[in-house]
Amino acid sequence: MTHKVTVVGAGHVGATAARRIATKELADVVLLDLPQGAPQGKGLDILEANPLEGSDARVLGTLDYADTADSEIVVITAGLPRKPGMSRDDLLLKNKDIIKGVTENVIKHSPNCIIIPVTNPLDAMCQVVYRVSGFPRERVVGMAGILDSARMRAFIAMELRVSVENTHAFVLGGHGDTMVPLPRYSTVAGIPITELMDAATVEAIVKRTAGGGGEIVKLLGSGSAYYAPGSAIVEMVEAILKDKKKILPCAAFLDGEYGIKNLFVGVPVKLGARGIEEIIQITLTAAERAALQKSADAVKELVDVIKV
Ligand code: LAC
Repeated sequence: MTHKVTVVGAGHVGATAARRIATKELADVVLLDLPQGAPQGKGLDILEANPLEGSDARVLGTLDYADTADSEIVVITAGLPRKPGMSRDDLLLKNKDIIKGVTENVIKHSPNCIIIPVTNPLDAMCQVVYRVSGFPRERVVGMAGILDSARMRAFIAMELRVSVENTHAFVLGGHGDTMVPLPRYSTVAGIPITELMDAATVEAIVKRTAGGGGEIVKLLGSGSAYYAPGSAIVEMVEAILKDKKKILPCAAFLDGEYGIKNLFVGVPVKLGARGIEEIIQITLTAAERAALQKSADAVKELVDVIKV
């Protein structure tokens, strides 16, 4: 392949994303983890599936950051997952140390890469990567909004019995309980869902979307979601490698956009070969603005605790 993508963390999310990048022949893939993550075994297993998938992507599982050299994109999924009853924020301090170390190693070998943080609590971990890497904000873009909107789209499609392909969902804010699904901008074939469902149904979908990660954690009993997160990562990787300039909800470092400064929050961005090529600003009602501010305040609280 002409592209190279590294996935740090060979747990369920990392391995799922690595496999899908390889299967879609988007890039050669390096899957890195500590020995207990068994990256070599998973990497080889993905490689051996390639003849059956019709993919010539090279896949390498490794313990050594030297193998990640000159990656165009590095996805960071390393860190501890949530356990039942645990909030994303409980993970804060443990994952901060892990992400700091990972980022230092990543930038040593791929100083020009675009980093996609995935580890929770997502927005705060983006801030760690951004500060430790010293990268421009265009090259640190967090995965969350695509996952949250995919969940919302699935719920909308189920409710209205329409194809998921007809659905579009809009979710702003931090990837946490305060995220802000926007029904006004969520549509089926261009029609806002507020015109297709009663207010109580819309509200139930909004609530289920915001609690979507927790719902899976509870059902799995151990660990958190990985199929939808894996697909969401690949959507971002593809948009960047193919320079698609796709508008997607991602965690971006805001510098005054939406009245928020010096903080990662989920907003629509244009994703292309340069990473974040534009932050799209949409008009919000007073209530939507207040909800977004509340979500940003929740992210700020975490960022203040870890002082990044
Ligand atoms: C979720 C976790 C991974 O939303 O944050 O599933």
